[in-house]
Amino acid sequence: MVKKNITRVAAVIGVMLAFCLPSRADEGMWIPLLLQQNQEEMQRLGLQITAEDIYSINHSSLKDAIVQFGGGCTGEVVSPQGLLLTNHHCGFGYIQYHSSVEHDYLTQGFWAQSLQEELPCPGLEVRFLKEMRDVTEPMLEGITFDMPEPIRQDSLAARAKRLQESLASPNTEVKVLPFYYGNQYYLFVYEVFKDVRLVGAPPSNIGKFGGDTDNWMWPRHTGDFSVFRIYADADNQPAPYSPDNRPYRPKKYLKIDLRGYGEGDFTLVFGYPGRTQEYLSSYGVEQILNIEDPMRVAARTARLEVIKAAMERDPAVRIQYAAKAASIANGWKKWMGEIKGIQRMNVPGSKRDYEKVFQSWAGSATGAEYAGVLPALKAAYEDLEKPLALAVIFQERVMAPEVVPFAYSFQKLCQVSKGEDTSLSLEEALEEARAKAQKFFKDYHPQVDRAVFETMLGMMENDENSALFMNMPAPDLKKALDVFYGKSLFSSPERLTAFLDKYKASDYKAIEKDPLYNYAGIMLGTYRQMVYPMLAQGRKRIDSLQRIYMKGQLAMKESGAFAGLMRVGNQNNLVLSNVGSSRFYPDANFTLRVTYGKIKGFEPADAVLYKHYTTLDGIMQKENPDIYDYVVEAKLKDLYARKDYGRYANALGEMPVAFIGTNHTTGGNSGSPVLNGEGNLIGINFDRCWEGTMSDIRYDAKICRNIMLDIRYCLFIIDKFAGATRLVEEMDIIE
Ligand code: ARG
Ligand code: ASP
Repeated sequence: MVKKNITRVAAVIGVMLAFCLPSRADEGMWIPLLLQQNQEEMQRLGLQITAEDIYSINHSSLKDAIVQFGGGCTGEVVSPQGLLLTNHHCGFGYIQYHSSVEHDYLTQGFWAQSLQEELPCPGLEVRFLKEMRDVTEPMLEGITFDMPEPIRQDSLAARAKRLQESLASPNTEVKVLPFYYGNQYYLFVYEVFKDVRLVGAPPSNIGKFGGDTDNWMWPRHTGDFSVFRIYADADNQPAPYSPDNRPYRPKKYLKIDLRGYGEGDFTLVFGYPGRTQEYLSSYGVEQILNIEDPMRVAARTARLEVIKAAMERDPAVRIQYAAKAASIANGWKKWMGEIKGIQRMNVPGSKRDYEKVFQSWAGSATGAEYAGVLPALKAAYEDLEKPLALAVIFQERVMAPEVVPFAYSFQKLCQVSKGEDTSLSLEEALEEARAKAQKFFKDYHPQVDRAVFETMLGMMENDENSALFMNMPAPDLKKALDVFYGKSLFSSPERLTAFLDKYKASDYKAIEKDPLYNYAGIMLGTYRQMVYPMLAQGRKRIDSLQRIYMKGQLAMKESGAFAGLMRVGNQNNLVLSNVGSSRFYPDANFTLRVTYGKIKGFEPADAVLYKHYTTLDGIMQKENPDIYDYVVEAKLKDLYARKDYGRYANALGEMPVAFIGTNHTTGGNSGSPVLNGEGNLIGINFDRCWEGTMSDIRYDAKICRNIMLDIRYCLFIIDKFAGATRLVEEMDIIE
């Protein structure tokens, strides 16, 4: 007992000592509505404008120039005529959509020479945030701490619905979203524009330069941008595509600053970060570190090996699988970096130290309500282990052969044929199926897919967890592959096209008899019945415990005992997570956030120093005409040889390409504007450095860096390389 008290006192003293350390900038994804609280710090770091200039309820402010681009990226308006910048990888789908063998915009790039040539992009939407409000009170009033979870959920859903409906209007989207795991609620009103057109994109060997090899890496030389334009009706209001629409006149557009920057300069990234999990318990982090990430990585390593070998053998496969391999590799590489980062920082260990402090506070009168939450979280994560592993097996192994989800998607046609689904006519369903098949087979190679299938089965064969998905009627799944790829309708464009060409309602029977369709059905059925319910239930339980834990962490900090930065004396002298930082910020949830920091190089490993920016010289150093990712356009080489950089060179006469900083960003921040202290555009965010990808779980200002495209390189490509000078003329440029 006495001994325990001494440990507790020591811990508290350790914590109190740590109060003396200055609070960190860099970390945090701040709610623009509450930015006033950061103003002083931002100004100390170099911001020359005010929080009100960034986000204002009453006037137009910088936020009126920012959009959520599509579902998962950010973009910014840079001209009075609704011109929009985002990343090349964010616009990629639309560049590809408009590309054909005759007009290969992916390879050649695309530059509309006039408004008339700008290309409509069906399905692409951009959202402007009109306003956000704190609706915590109407949402949580009368909801008690110990209310049973289902009742709580139902009443919150009903309240959110009511609030959303009360503000509904055309072209507007209203959303109520939880923050801090449901301890706070905010309401968002968006104006949605649906006529967004492709204006320009550099060739892929600029926009994707370095490809997957350089992805998540520094030094980086990717010209990762593309150009779009928002169109509106005659009254400047959102409208569906119409040839009569005109360029949108925005409330605000960003000015572009060509004067450059130096190391240590203030930067602000303003955009839509998707998902972070900074407040997990040690149990949650351990589960990601030991189960989820390694399982996903292993499955993708095997899958990529097969695909990449095939891509190397056959140029046609290389084109077919380029985008697929890129997206498989993107998560794969990030998770590997995340694992290393979490290990290096000993995140579970420092979380455990923090949890000891929390638990001892929970033993005091102010914290009593929270005494049970950590043990409950521990148990909940233990229960989640099995369903999580099964879900990852399903997602990363069972669904890896593309033909499996593809075959299953024909369920709809069956249902329409049988009259079970009346949302479409048979004609429409058939039309949809044909289009789907055409799109699928364009980038499909059955031998590659079969090799993936075999590899995945190999991984599953002697794996206890996978047994659930191996329990098939066919005696030997490997033999079944001969049937899947030799006889099924879905593995052959010829068989499927012939079938769909003369399809009549009763032919659904042939689909239902198809071996692959059946296999896919059994797999999905197994997942839906045996895995998903446990997984969803487990996640829900963790979510509600996490809400209580979060509330406890906030309460512990408010109690004053642990304000300020907290460090414990473990051997690495690690910062005890944001949980000890001077202010809390809510995890990313695809809502508009401000993050700020400074332009800064870093030390990725012992004795290695990374400079804060790259230049065109580096592109020439990486050039390799034999490696697809490192081909350099003749025109770019020519500009380089003549050092013909025009107004876009830096003070040293170099052509800067990318730079890094300490801004805390994540997936979804791609395309976000990077602003300098004056609030002008100096770059476009597009990635992070591999060593710091654990920032979604634990941010470390020493090693976490976001990667930004230098706006001067972007304009140089538009203007000097592509000659699309009309676009640059629209912009407001400071030099
Ligand atoms: N790593 C960046 C992000 O997470 C860029 C991804 C696109 N590029 C690629 N080579 N896959 O989105
Ligand atoms: N590349 C990411 C994106 O597309 C950004 C990141 O994860 O840092 O949003």
